[in-house]
Amino acid sequence: MNIQVTYPDFADVKTAGVIGTGVIGGAWVLHFLRMGLDVVAYDPGPSAEQKMLAMIDKIWPTMIKLGLRDGARPDRIRFVGSLGELADAVDFIQESTPEHLGRKRALFAELDNLLAPDVIVISSTSGFAMTDMAADVKGHAERFVVGHPFNPPYLVPFCEVCGGEQTAQAVVDWTAGFYESIGKKVAKMEQELPGFIGNRLQEALWREALHMVANKECSVEDIDKAIAYGPGLRWAIMGHCLTYHLGGGQGGMAHLLDHFEESLKEPWTRLEAPPLTQQLKDDMVAGCLSQANGASIDELVQERDDCLIRIMQTLDEYRQQHGIQR
Ligand SMILES: NC(=O)c1ccc[n+]([C@@H]2O[C@H](COP(=O)([O-])OP(=O)(O)OC[C@H]3O[C@@H](n4cnc5c(N)ncnc54)[C@H](O)[C@@H]3O)[C@@H](O)[C@H]2O)c1
Repeated sequence: MNIQVTYPDFADVKTAGVIGTGVIGGAWVLHFLRMGLDVVAYDPGPSAEQKMLAMIDKIWPTMIKLGLRDGARPDRIRFVGSLGELADAVDFIQESTPEHLGRKRALFAELDNLLAPDVIVISSTSGFAMTDMAADVKGHAERFVVGHPFNPPYLVPFCEVCGGEQTAQAVVDWTAGFYESIGKKVAKMEQELPGFIGNRLQEALWREALHMVANKECSVEDIDKAIAYGPGLRWAIMGHCLTYHLGGGQGGMAHLLDHFEESLKEPWTRLEAPPLTQQLKDDMVAGCLSQANGASIDELVQERDDCLIRIMQTLDEYRQQHGIQR
């Protein structure tokens, strides 16, 4: 296998291939269009193209608010009817098909046969290891890498880039650098960890939330209130560790670790996943509907996007004024 492949300069990347245009793939399409790229998309799902075009119509005003790169236009997207047609037209691929290991494995093996060796395939998977997803690739397994975004990737900047056993370091580096060139904040992972960084952290919180609801310890609403009006507000500014650094007062993290060392042993967390009983599912759904208070998913998305933009703009403005690089 020849792995001495040269990947394109970022400035020469003109066309993104998007495979799967659902919640995440569709949101990637919007980000790529906003960055001034052409998009070639493939999704065999019912009315996928119409749904994508409707999503672009709805979200484009948000992209305008965020600021468009030169040449960015909402109509620079073309749907194709086969992977082969897509493979001939793109400079890289962002794959966002459903989270199913067997299907992703078959898709990657097929793609590898269709693509020129210098076309990198990035998977949005929420947690599968690239080592497993690329297990059936016979040719250029070195070009497959995970680029895991957070919903919606047209707004939330963070992505984690993680290779598998066969992924070339050059591909991990290219993907991290390319993402940064299109406005993303990237963690380039040195080792393959299940759930990467962000989902591993979210999962810990999610399991605790499910335990509390299953044990009737608190309401779904209180869980969300505890985050949205509590630590979540601080996390947008400096993450979990630097936030705790301040919790140690003038002594910072060193004092905090001494101070709370004993409490780390308290049985506060219950990290085994709770059984997802029908009762627990019903309670979670009812709690969310009660919190939504009649608002539709579309209205909640609008609220989330509008507020996220304001938070991000406030953070940018403050950091620029104070010369903070983080
Ligand atoms: N939803 C999230 O919050 C989130 C966040 C980060 C990453 N992800 C990951 O993104 C990926 C997609 O998740 P989603 O939530 O967008 O799912 P989704 O169900 O909303 O979208 C999947 C899309 O893929 C299409 N599809 C199915 N088979 C296909 C194929 N063979 N080729 C092309 N398209 C195909 C479907 O028609 C659908 O439109 C998953 O790997 C998921 O783990 C999801």
